[in-house]
Amino acid sequence: MTTRTRILTGITTTGTPHLGNYAGAIRPAIVASLDTNADSFYFLADYHALIKCDDPLRIQRSRQEIAATWLAAGLDVERVTFYRQSDIPEIPELTWLLTCVASKGLLNRAHAYKASVDKNLENGEDPDAGITMGLFSYPVLMAADILMFNANKVPVGRDQIQHVEMARDIGQRFNHLFGKGKDFFAMPEAVIEESVATLPGLDGRKMSKSYDNTIPLFSSAKDMKSAISRIVTDSRAPGEAKDPDNSHLFTLYQAFSTPEQCAEFRGELLQGLGWGEAKERLFKLLDADLGESRERYHELMSRPSDMEDILLAGAQKARKTATPFLAELREAVGLRSFVSAAQTATSSKKKAAKGPRFVSFRDEDGSFRFRLLAADGEQLLLSRNFADGKAAGQVTKQLQAGEALDIRPQDLSFSVWLHDACVADSPAFADSAARDAAIEALRVALAPAQD
Ligand code: TRP
Repeated sequence: MTTRTRILTGITTTGTPHLGNYAGAIRPAIVASLDTNADSFYFLADYHALIKCDDPLRIQRSRQEIAATWLAAGLDVERVTFYRQSDIPEIPELTWLLTCVASKGLLNRAHAYKASVDKNLENGEDPDAGITMGLFSYPVLMAADILMFNANKVPVGRDQIQHVEMARDIGQRFNHLFGKGKDFFAMPEAVIEESVATLPGLDGRKMSKSYDNTIPLFSSAKDMKSAISRIVTDSRAPGEAKDPDNSHLFTLYQAFSTPEQCAEFRGELLQGLGWGEAKERLFKLLDADLGESRERYHELMSRPSDMEDILLAGAQKARKTATPFLAELREAVGLRSFVSAAQTATSSKKKAAKGPRFVSFRDEDGSFRFRLLAADGEQLLLSRNFADGKAAGQVTKQLQAGEALDIRPQDLSFSVWLHDACVADSPAFADSAARDAAIEALRVALAPAQD
């Protein structure tokens, strides 16, 4: 079995996506997600958005617009995991665990933070004037996004490379401190798509909201047309030959046309196609390419509850990995149940905990339960509730009797049955391979001792 490459990236939810975002990030990400070897995680980085924006309406609007844009552009949520960062409570929890190992000196060197400090100094202000802990800790939150899902590849813009490197640093430190030879976190790699178009904007500079030179993506055909009419061109009159290689209108055309269409357009420009006509051609091309998605976009925007459902389902999918993994990490740093911790302490005194062991306890409702812990203290099973201690004791005895076990896998966990009654359940595992390994471990643990 080949393992798929996990690709993960976050989209900060401030603003409305424009044509440049579409060609530079959205379209290539959707194409990449179609690769059968890719296991893609795309999410709305809405916690990150809070760092840059304190206007609740804008935050809400942008989250919806960005979700609708990705879905309308063709993201297949069956194939990828698409979610809102803020729907995964394990993310802020992991952020704290990582904050406790991230060195402040490392974060002091973050470009975004340093730029703010420099600006303050330039203006003769206090170095930290107006700088929040959110901005300072931004890279730790991003490290949690990445490490939570053990991403291998992280497609980002150049300005984010440093953040991915910090995620490696922080993850490595956690592995070193708590891994005991095992690596909790895979080391992520930043991927910069060199081949992907950075689209020029209306004035020829990079298309960017901050230059106010963008072409809107899905707002309306009319808006798109009016932006295109404002593309700056040279003053050559209709009939005069144009120079396609020095025309950003041509560059825009190229980014959305087939090679044949592009060659034809080039020929026409060389033969003196007027700029007004050329703009009309560009509009037609974009409208043909994006018109259907635009319709889907407006449909999605008009039914926010559908999108809510899609995103909640995505969060549930993501949490199948995040919840058990975070439980493991909590365990590793010492945030453990008193019950199993006490047991580990006493049994290690007694017999240096050689094999797996049953630990019984009383549940809040007074019923009797037990856990089966592996030699390393990891929980293999948690029993159902039994009315009295004797019944629970009998079950543990039968499980150890060396008879064939009735183990029934279900999703990413499994349960153990005796006489057609379920007596205990496993925790949830990150994937079916981990679940099957645990089933094997359980069989070994409960096999009759060989001496
Ligand atoms: N900081 C990224 C940006 O502004 C967005 C982001 C948040 C992200 N978390 C991430 C990107 C994790 C990749 C992986 O572009």
